[in-house]
Amino acid sequence: MSATAPVRPVLPPDIKARKGGEPLVVLTAYTTPMARLVDPHCDIALVGDSLGMVLHGLPSTVGVTMEMMILHGRAVVRGLQKAMPVIDMPFGSYEESPQQAFRNAARLIAETGAPAVKLEGGETMAETIAFLTARGVPVMAHVGLTPQSVNTLGGYKVVGRAEEAEKVMADARACQEAGAFSIVLEKVPMGLAGKITESLSIPTIGIGAGVDCDGQVLVIDDMLGLFTDFRPKFVKRYAELGKTADQAIAAFAAEVRSRAFPAAEHGFPDVLPAAKAKP
Ligand code: KIV
Repeated sequence: MSATAPVRPVLPPDIKARKGGEPLVVLTAYTTPMARLVDPHCDIALVGDSLGMVLHGLPSTVGVTMEMMILHGRAVVRGLQKAMPVIDMPFGSYEESPQQAFRNAARLIAETGAPAVKLEGGETMAETIAFLTARGVPVMAHVGLTPQSVNTLGGYKVVGRAEEAEKVMADARACQEAGAFSIVLEKVPMGLAGKITESLSIPTIGIGAGVDCDGQVLVIDDMLGLFTDFRPKFVKRYAELGKTADQAIAAFAAEVRSRAFPAAEHGFPDVLPAAKAKP
C-alpha cells in the first residue's frame, strides 16, 4: 500500500466554499515548469491572457488568441496535481453572444482539461455568465480594471473611485447573481474592494485591490522579477530572477569567449576508463 494519499485536485466548489476563510492564493502560470513550481503553494494557477504581454511581447492582451490560450493551458494542466487551473477567455472569444462564449469556453475546457474559465466584464456579461454556468462551465468573473478594454478605458487606471464605485459594486453583484464561483477585483480602491467582499457570498480575489479581499493574485513573472517592462504599484517583487538570469548569461558568454567553458568534466573521453565505465 502506498504511504502517500492521492492528491485531490481543487475544483470550483472548493474555491466557492473558501469565502471568508483562509485567503486564497493565486498566481498566473503559462508553462509546465512554472505550473510545477506554483502547484504545491497555490489554490489556483491562472492561465492569464497576460501571457500575451509577458511571454509573447504583445503591447496589450488584446491580440491574444484562442490558440495561444489552448497551447499554454495544456502546458499548465500537465504541470499541476493539486492547484486548480483557470483559463482566461481571450478578447473577442465571448463578447458577441452567450452562444459564442459557450462554444469557445467548451473548447478551452475540452482541449486543455482545465475545469473553469475566467472572463472580463460585469453587468454586460451577466447574461453570458448565466448561460455558461447553466451549461456546465464554471466561471470566474473579473471586474474593476478589465485590461482587454484598455482601448476604451484609455489606460490601466484605477476603476471605482467616486461615482464609479456604485457601478463596480453593481458589476460584482451581477456576476455573483449570474452564477460566477469567484471574482477578480483588479485595481479597485481598497475601501470599495472591502465593501464588495463583505457584500458578496462568493470569494473576491484582489490584484491591486487591498488586503480585505478573500484572496490575492499576481502575475508570476512580475513577482519573480522576470517581467520588468513596467511595474504596477501593486506588484511586490519576491525575487529578482531577471537579474540573476542576466548575470548567469553574462558569465556563460564570458566563459565561452575565454574558452573556460566547457571544462574537461563536461565532455566525453575518447576511451572509457576501465573500472567505472559510464556511457
Ligand atoms: O491575465 C491575467 O494574468 C489576469 C490577472 C492579472 C488577474 O487576468
